Amino acid sequence: MSADYHFYEPATGHGLPHDPLNAIVGPRPIGWISTVSTGGVRNLAPYSFFNLFNYRPPILGFASIGWKDSVANIADTGEFVWNLATRRQAEAMNASAAMVSPEVDEFALAGLAALPSRLVRPDRVAESPAQFECRLTQLIRLETKDAEPIDSWLVLGEAIGIHIDSAMLEDGAYQTGRAGPILRGGGPADYFEIGQAALFRMERPR
Ligand SMILES: Cc1cc2nc3c(=O)[nH]c(=O)nc-3n(C[C@H](O)[C@H](O)[C@H](O)COP(=O)(O)O)c2cc1C
Repeated sequence: MSADYHFYEPATGHGLPHDPLNAIVGPRPIGWISTVSTGGVRNLAPYSFFNLFNYRPPILGFASIGWKDSVANIADTGEFVWNLATRRQAEAMNASAAMVSPEVDEFALAGLAALPSRLVRPDRVAESPAQFECRLTQLIRLETKDAEPIDSWLVLGEAIGIHIDSAMLEDGAYQTGRAGPILRGGGPADYFEIGQAALFRMERPR
């Protein structure tokens, strides 16, 4: 039996009442990125075009649609921190997405406490159960299939220092579900929270 597919070419529109793109590629982990400007102003913002791309060394990245303050700070300083966003920080994470001037400290705006990092200048979100201190490795401007540069920027960084709230460890194993990470779905407001009930196990083929 063949499925009935809705097919579309993104260049000419999806033909649906709501853009399905980020609802299909979802839920996506959130890159809650803290940076600091050369003038010392703290910045914090969520990016769901985010993921981990390599184990050793750990390399993670996010895409900024437009040259936003986070990218500008990282281009200037070469440093950022990734903070894990969990259900407890969901509202603060959302508040930190406000489009405000670069002079506004989004830690203060979102009512979040900051902790100093050990190896980089940007602070960490104190309430977050895991934070990665990162150095910029590549800043890549995205292009279309016709090699036309677009105003979207992929930031890749190496995690050089990793902080884990020890309450998330059970016999030394990090408990993803215990932290309760939140992930971004589609539409203007959909999120998922990952708990222990979402876990299933499957070994890779040998
Ligand atoms: C959950 C969530 C995910 C987001 N993901 C992205 C993203 O992947 N790329 C992007 O450019 N903006 C994204 N945004 C919007 C930015 O957070 C927003 O534009 C913010 O003001 C950027 O801050 P900055 O200028 O301080 O870097 C997202 C917002 C939310 C709430």
